[in-house]
Amino acid sequence: MLRRNTRLFATFIKLSADRTCCHNAATSPVQPKSKLDIKDGPGLSHFLKDSHRKNKIFPAHADTHAYISTEELKGDGKKVMLTTFGCQMNVNDMELVRGLLLENGYVETKDESEADAVLIMTCSIRDGAEEKIWNRLKHLKRNQRKQRTVAVLGCMAERVKSTLLTTPGNLCQVVAGPDSYRDLPRLLALSRSGTKAMNVQLSFEETYADVTPVRVDASSKTAFVSIMRGCDNMCTYCIVPFTRGRERSRPIDSIIDEVRRLRDEGVKQITLLGQNVNSYRDTSESSISLGVHSKMVDGFSTVYGQKSGGRSFATLLDHVSRVDDEMRIRFTSPHPKDFPNDVIHLIKQRNNICNQIHLPAQSGDDGVLEAMGRGYTRDTYLSLVNHIRNTIPHVSFTSDFIGGFCGEREEAHQNTLSLMRQVEYSYCFVFPYSMREGTRAHRKLVDDVPEEVKSRRHKELTTLFREITLKKNLSRVGTKELVLIEGRAKRGENCMSGRTDGGIVVHIDREEKKIDIGDYVVAKITGATSQSMSGEFVSVSSLREYEHDLN
Ligand code: SAH
Ligand code: SF4
Ligand code: F3S
Repeated sequence: MLRRNTRLFATFIKLSADRTCCHNAATSPVQPKSKLDIKDGPGLSHFLKDSHRKNKIFPAHADTHAYISTEELKGDGKKVMLTTFGCQMNVNDMELVRGLLLENGYVETKDESEADAVLIMTCSIRDGAEEKIWNRLKHLKRNQRKQRTVAVLGCMAERVKSTLLTTPGNLCQVVAGPDSYRDLPRLLALSRSGTKAMNVQLSFEETYADVTPVRVDASSKTAFVSIMRGCDNMCTYCIVPFTRGRERSRPIDSIIDEVRRLRDEGVKQITLLGQNVNSYRDTSESSISLGVHSKMVDGFSTVYGQKSGGRSFATLLDHVSRVDDEMRIRFTSPHPKDFPNDVIHLIKQRNNICNQIHLPAQSGDDGVLEAMGRGYTRDTYLSLVNHIRNTIPHVSFTSDFIGGFCGEREEAHQNTLSLMRQVEYSYCFVFPYSMREGTRAHRKLVDDVPEEVKSRRHKELTTLFREITLKKNLSRVGTKELVLIEGRAKRGENCMSGRTDGGIVVHIDREEKKIDIGDYVVAKITGATSQSMSGEFVSVSSLREYEHDLN
């Protein structure tokens, strides 16, 4: 029966597949073995009943059983080298890939020359990010010592698709988009048999909730936990909604289970990850109560349809922060357009939720914000900042900015500089605008700011935020900070470094004192640059003890 459905489905795929390819060898038993295996439409499981999906057939090995035997799916000790580019989501996705491959009998190597497969997790956010990947692929080709597979995963795989396989030079043999990592054993097996293979299907429901991520450094005291995938915001400049698909939230129970597991492994800081964490909505069945309905900050309206029902981000944050009150919780990123009031109050109440909020502004000019489709004005953004500051006096803000967006005039750029001055961020990520094909800006706007102007504005924004952070960090000299020690500092054997609650790096000279990774250490700040601070060891402490001493 499955074979028959599969055959019918193959006809459908023929019609609906990516324009650049014409068939899907893996789903069609009647096709002769192709040198190109491309899966780019819906999978067979789209046509199966929901009960099959719940049994995790989607995005399924079931689609492929007719072609690759279970034996062939196994890694059998083959060595894979995993390299990650891009954002924290990619770091976390590579942990999922590592988990899936190890479970399938692969072993990891750090030595490129002995790898049977090199997997690269990629980013498409700016042209430069993709340029780096092309260079990496060429480097791998030049240094190839043995027969091996090169696989491109992640956002660039999703955006560039089969062009990665067909570009002259045979630079890569496997392409896997962000929702098809369960299919990697099959794709790698196909490649071993000489077939180039691709799966770039996006899913409405894949959250990898049941996959256990394996961190690159299992002893690290900090970890990322993905709470949602995709993005529905469609900011006009951004490629992410196209590379990562529709927004979907991971069930709260699986998040709490993972946080507990990490706590048991000794992790002291969790960062909850999502493209827009305040849209988190878990509508699955759960024993965890729904919590309160999130209300937006007064006077702050949204142009987007407000999501409602299910368990909100505030409910999730409440539960995660109660797993262990000695574990620091951070999250990134909330979107300013719909920042819930209950999240602000929770941060204030809970000692272990860090008072640091990444609140990407992108621009300080109303015209540019409108053109970006951000859903807020400079004033509403500032009123949100003020409201949060009034509620949480010691909160620190970080942000993202884009310089030289379509139509950005000099005056608009000055407005962004003035927003930076007004908010006094503790760190900013600043990017020169890079037009991405397929985005709304690409279709509707003109990339009219000359490259040299973009780079001058980028430089001015960077210089200003560094001046501000230097001033803020210097103002802390002489005060005490609670630092979670993350590792040894590069500057010397005797120096450890970690972060304050506000996320600033502090290097601490440990002299004769015993400081371990994962300790909370009280440090007296003795010096500062725009990037970090240095401090003297005062004592080993804990979140509870430090809070008690402060009050
Ligand atoms: N979801 C996250 C952002 C992820 S992308 C959020 O909204 O916070 C990270 C940052 O890359 C964005 O905040 C934006 O500042 C920048 N960015 C996105 N697309 C870009 C482009 N086309 N050119 C330059 N920078 C871009
Ligand atoms: Fe991109 Fe906007 Fe979504 Fe962030 S919120 S990922 S900037 S579309
Ligand atoms: Fe991240 Fe880059 Fe994709 S920023 S979401 S890896 S495009």
